[in-house]
Amino acid sequence: MINLYSDTQTVPTESMRKAIAQAEVGDEHSRSDPTTLLLENKVAELLGKEEAVFLPSGTMCNLIGVAINTSPGDVVMLESNGHILRSETGGPAIVSSVLTDPIDGERGQFTVPQIEQRLDQTSRYRPPTSLICLEQTHNFAGGTVWPIELWEDVCSFAKSKKLRIHVDGARLLNAVVASGVDAETWATQADTIWIDFSKGLGAPMGACIAGSAEDIDKAWLWKHRLGGAMRQSGLMAAAAIYALDENIERLKDDHERAKNLAEALKELGAEVVEPETNIIFFDMTPCGKRNNEVIEELSKKDVLMSEIGNQIRAVTHLDIDDTDIESAIKAINQVVNT
Ligand SMILES: Cc1ncc(COP(=O)(O)O)c(C=O)c1O
Repeated sequence: MINLYSDTQTVPTESMRKAIAQAEVGDEHSRSDPTTLLLENKVAELLGKEEAVFLPSGTMCNLIGVAINTSPGDVVMLESNGHILRSETGGPAIVSSVLTDPIDGERGQFTVPQIEQRLDQTSRYRPPTSLICLEQTHNFAGGTVWPIELWEDVCSFAKSKKLRIHVDGARLLNAVVASGVDAETWATQADTIWIDFSKGLGAPMGACIAGSAEDIDKAWLWKHRLGGAMRQSGLMAAAAIYALDENIERLKDDHERAKNLAEALKELGAEVVEPETNIIFFDMTPCGKRNNEVIEELSKKDVLMSEIGNQIRAVTHLDIDDTDIESAIKAINQVVNT
């Protein structure tokens, strides 16, 4: 099986499993799981924040990030194809009673004038905007990386307007590897920022949200409230530590393979969104094939991809090697030419 469906579908390697088996554990609720504490310190340091807290999922990081940065009735600005808006079942509206103000971005990114224009509409009838959410990389735009200059402009402007900043960094480390800009720099102006271990890093589960000690204290309250406090979480924290130690540098291989696949698709005549990291969006209709047909035909050849909107999405990750990419290209060729 060549599974390009998502980087969430990786299976832990033998050495990661060994790290899990050897983990020292305790009760996370009472903050006595040593491996979880180690992971949290490691992430806080990586992101240049006072503290971090381990949570079961990225979705919970977003739920908690929105909760601690807003009050009920506030407006949250975010990109209109952002994961928080499109794929988290309206959680922030239910849990934090906030409204969302989507901005149509380009490649998942928006600009200072776009924010300014919305803030200019402020009147006493308008609910207050208190938070801006950024996604790095942007999943549904195709794993795109915000340029650092635009990122800093948007963050500085948000700060000047006293908006809080929350960063969905599910794939922040892909952006770090692709841009050469370190994680701490991306995190500098963020009030809360998180990274996911269950995507390109290849761990079975979990994410860590980081921020000031005061904010992470609030995050703990929400962690308990939402049922995200765990017990011997060190088993999963050990996998995350292993992933941070061993699997960041190799993300560049995933990016390279995404580029190779994109090139082959272009040669076939597909319309391809140029990949910047490990996500490729493409449309096969210019080749005379419907996207859902292509996905179905590919699955019969043991190549898995997904349909998102009116495009196909393929994602490279640590369970995909060069041979898999070659085989996937061969299978797509066969589907197009039969
Ligand atoms: C950009 C982005 N944010 C958040 C999430 C949610 O993360 P999790 O699956 O760990 O809940 C995902 C998952 O795919 C994602 O791609």
